[in-house]
Amino acid sequence: MPAALMVAASYFLLLTPPISAFLVGGTSTVLSRGSLSVATSSLQMTATNGARIDQHEETKDDDNYDVVKVDLTDGRDYPIYIGTSFTDEQISETLTSHIHGKQALIITNDKIAPMGFLEKYEKLLAPHKEVHTLVLPDGESNKNLEILQLILDKALEEKLDRKCTLIALGGGVIGDMVGFAAAIYQRGVDFVQIPTTVMAMTDSSVGGKTGVNHPLGKNMVGAFHQPQCVFIDTDSLSTLPDRELQSGIAEIIKYGLIRDRDLFEWLEVNMEKLLNRDPEATRHAVKRSCENKAEVVKADEKEAGVRATLNLGHTFGHAIESGSGYGTWLHGEAVAIGTAMATTMSAQMGWIDNELVKRTYKLLEKAKLPTDLPLDSPMNREIFLKYMAADKKVANGQLRLILLKGALGNCVFTGDFDQEAMIDTIDEFVAECSGAQ
Ligand SMILES: NC(=O)c1ccc[n+]([C@@H]2O[C@H](COP(=O)([O-])OP(=O)(O)OC[C@H]3O[C@@H](n4cnc5c(N)ncnc54)[C@H](O)[C@@H]3O)[C@@H](O)[C@H]2O)c1
Ligand SMILES: [Zn+2]
Repeated sequence: MPAALMVAASYFLLLTPPISAFLVGGTSTVLSRGSLSVATSSLQMTATNGARIDQHEETKDDDNYDVVKVDLTDGRDYPIYIGTSFTDEQISETLTSHIHGKQALIITNDKIAPMGFLEKYEKLLAPHKEVHTLVLPDGESNKNLEILQLILDKALEEKLDRKCTLIALGGGVIGDMVGFAAAIYQRGVDFVQIPTTVMAMTDSSVGGKTGVNHPLGKNMVGAFHQPQCVFIDTDSLSTLPDRELQSGIAEIIKYGLIRDRDLFEWLEVNMEKLLNRDPEATRHAVKRSCENKAEVVKADEKEAGVRATLNLGHTFGHAIESGSGYGTWLHGEAVAIGTAMATTMSAQMGWIDNELVKRTYKLLEKAKLPTDLPLDSPMNREIFLKYMAADKKVANGQLRLILLKGALGNCVFTGDFDQEAMIDTIDEFVAECSGAQ
């Protein structure tokens, strides 16, 4: 690791307060930024994390990037570099410091490759490492075992050894798939994430959830495998289509709602800048999202409790994605409608006030995200319930949802909610849809 970054990372480590956690009996999970408390059906975990985590910035020599550390056990900590206008030297020094063997395989897709990113990273690493490249077909429909096999084939053909590093250059699809390939190639090799979408920069590249889709379910085959580092150059977003940018913002709004009131309020003021790809605003939103994700992953790496709260709006959202036919909605768009539903349902139960519902709708709309289903949607109550019953958060036959409770920035993960409020909310959202007629 370059010296400046090393100082930044270790200073960060010293200032990060230990999360104190204890277990008590209970039935619901609560999480907010200042004080986390979690719960499953038989356990409740509460943790406090009082101090801000980003004071490490002051020590850095370079001001074009930040470093957020993901703190894990067993020496698996890793940094997330977030910046703009990286010099060639910064890129090659930083990346090579996290590639421990001689060989690296950069994997991207056929949409991103012609944009010049692949050529750039290959050129910068080539003087230091034996670099190979692989270009896969673009798209969620290619996130499967058949395409993943191409990564393993290439690694074997090039005789990559157990010290090799796979580098994921792309959005969440490439990141999830390459991470999983790294988890299983020769029983596990290193990998590095270079995310190029807002969705991947703020969510999927951090936290080590990797995997592919199965014909019977999304993300149903995978592994937890943490990267060596995440390298985020927000300049790469300049080529990202507006719709993809907006889709990623749904996940940033999510962090604000579930645990970060300041971020939510910052978004209310700065959404326009974010949509216009203002570099400082983008850097702030990405950094803050990564800090939130890192804190949650640290508290609950394997999703025994708190990590599930990152799925606000996702249970409804996944039902919308699957029930509408894949390809109709981008993930973040479906999550946006799901978030509107979770917020509406929370207010219906009296868990949050209507003012917060209004603010949430307004923010989603400012981000040009959908908050309801269109008239021609095939969705109806039965379709919702069918897909929600297949959700990964169902435990012992009981559906658990992430809902908002209390002031802005607090949520619960619970199976203990009013079923009627859920049905009423679904009915309200599908009332005008052709699928419900
Ligand atoms: N592992 C996790 O924790 C996690 C979390 C959230 C989402 N995900 C997964 O992430 C995936 C969605 O990620 P996504 O939204 O990044 O989708 P994606 O990877 O399909 O990228 C969206 C589109 O943008 C293109 N693209 C990427 N970077 C670009 C750039 N800089 N300029 C122009 N085009 C670019 C891609 O080729 C693709 O066509 C889903 O498979 C989802 O399951 C995983
Ligand atoms: Zn998501």
